[in-house]
Order: sequence, then structure tokens, then C-alpha cells
Amino acid sequence: MKTVTHKAGLQAVVDGWLGSGKRIALVPTMGNLHAGHHSLVALARERADVVIASVFVNPTQFGPHEDFARYPRTPEADAQGLEASGCDLLFLPGVEDLYPYGAERSVRVSVPQLPDVLEGAIRPGHFDGVATVVAKLFNLTRPHVAVFGQKDYQQLLVIRRLVRDLGYPIEIVAAPIVREANGLAMSSRNQYLDPEQRARAGVIRQTLLWMAEQSRGSDADLSAVEAQAAARLREAGLDPDYAVVRNADDLTEPKRDERHTWVALIAARMGSTRLIDNLLIEP
Ligand code: PAJ
Repeated sequence: MKTVTHKAGLQAVVDGWLGSGKRIALVPTMGNLHAGHHSLVALARERADVVIASVFVNPTQFGPHEDFARYPRTPEADAQGLEASGCDLLFLPGVEDLYPYGAERSVRVSVPQLPDVLEGAIRPGHFDGVATVVAKLFNLTRPHVAVFGQKDYQQLLVIRRLVRDLGYPIEIVAAPIVREANGLAMSSRNQYLDPEQRARAGVIRQTLLWMAEQSRGSDADLSAVEAQAAARLREAGLDPDYAVVRNADDLTEPKRDERHTWVALIAARMGSTRLIDNLLIEP
């Protein structure tokens, strides 16, 4: 596996690959990689001839009081793991490389509507930061396919809109959520949890399964399901930001008479660590 830390080096490799007709897959990450990220690389391998992974802690998607400075940065271990999971090229840029005018003065890509709800409502500007950096990464790596985790469900929808609206000729592949043995979705933020908190956080997955079960009945009262889900999380010592059932394609509130695929979504704090997870509910 080759590692490039600047745009110029990346361009040379990508030009060569495209010139020889290779199909390129991109896996964007913020590093501190775990089995969830590695599963994305494995999926990318199946979909393309060559795989680029980017590791970049993107300043524009962190709010002023979020964990940008303390976000775990482990580039050596990331490079080893990526090589083992079959990545061909690691793109490890610095902030100046992706934001030549500085993060504050960057051109912004903004995806309307979806960012107003759930994560977007709680983290103002977050999805603009994500859309901005992902557009930059798409432009630089020119992939045929890009793989994103279903773990960040709303992010996945934002990326799909970005691609459709700006006309990127890129196929977006959603990868299933990889979990710890107790059901906790793997996340770089899980390492902020002590062992006891980590064990208790398994209740998020249990609550999602319970919400799916309760929502399936034709006479299900979704607001009651949501209220009880939040209560379950509180009982386990978590502080929920939301526990909701939404339409899976646009996160609007489900209507009784229209049975689309739904998604149960939870965001909850365990101490100072914010955890998110979700579960699709087929009709
Ligand atoms: P990061 O949180 O590092 O996640 C990178 C990718 O890995 C995302 O697509 C995310 O959904 C996926 N992922 C994380 N945990 C996962 C798990 N347990 N199972 C499956 N996939 C998982 O998401 C970002 O970075 C950034 O917002 C980024 C898209 C890179 C833009 O900066």
C-alpha cells in the first residue's frame, strides 16, 4: 500500500489508474480505524479494481464545543490496518492541503432540508462540513464508487443527495453496521467509555430492536414507542437526544396510512460521550 500526504501525489496515482482503465473505490474516514471501517474497505475491494482510503479529521464538521482537538489520531496503526484489509492507497492530507484558504474561509457545500432534523438540528453546520469535505475528496480521488457506513444513517442520505444533485458519476454503497459482541455499534468514540459504560451502552441496540418490534403492528402508536424508548435509555443511565422512528428515505415522520421502509434512530449520551445507532424497519 502506498501513502500520499499531498494532493499532487494523489493526482499522479489517480491519473495513472484512470489512464489504464481501473475502477476506483473511495472509503472516506477520519481515522482511528476499527473493524467497521475495515469492513468498508473489504466491500470497496469487491466493487472496484483499486481502493483509496482517506484519513482526515475534518475540522469543518466539528462544532465549537465538540471533540475536534481530542479526536483520536492514530495514523501508524491506521496504515497497518488498511494495508491488511486490502487498501491500495492511503490519502492522509493535512488541513492546509484540503483547505488551502483555511477551514474558516473554505467554499461550503450545503445540502438543504435533511440537515435540519435530528443530527443536523443538534449539530448545526455538521453536515455542511461533511458535504464539503466529501465533495473535495470526490473531486481529488475521482472514484467510480464510494462506500459509506449505514451507522451514520443521516450522513449517508446527505451524501446520496450531494451526489444526485451535483451530478457526480459515483455509485454510493451503504455498508452494514459492525457491532461489538453486546450489540454496541463500533465507533472511534467508544474508547472514551469505561468498561462498565461500554457494557451498559448495549441497551441502545436492544432499544432499537424493541422499537422495530413495537412499530410493526398496524395500530402502533409511534409517539408512545418513542417516549418509551427514551425512558428505557434513561433507565440504563443514558441521556437520549432522540429515539425516533422516521421514513427511511428522507427522515420525515411516518404517516399511518403510508407504509414505507422506516428507520429507528437513537442518539444518546453516556457521560460526555455521544453515541448514535439505527435500525431499518422493513414494512
Ligand atoms: P468516520 O466516523 O471515521 O467514519 C468513516 C466511515 O465509516 C463512515 O462511512 C461511517 O459510517 C463508517 N462507520 C463507522 N463506524 C462503523 C460501523 N460500526 N460499522 C460500519 N461502518 C461504520 O463518517 C466520517 O468518518 C466522516 O463524516 C467522513 C464521511 C469521513 C467525512 O469527514
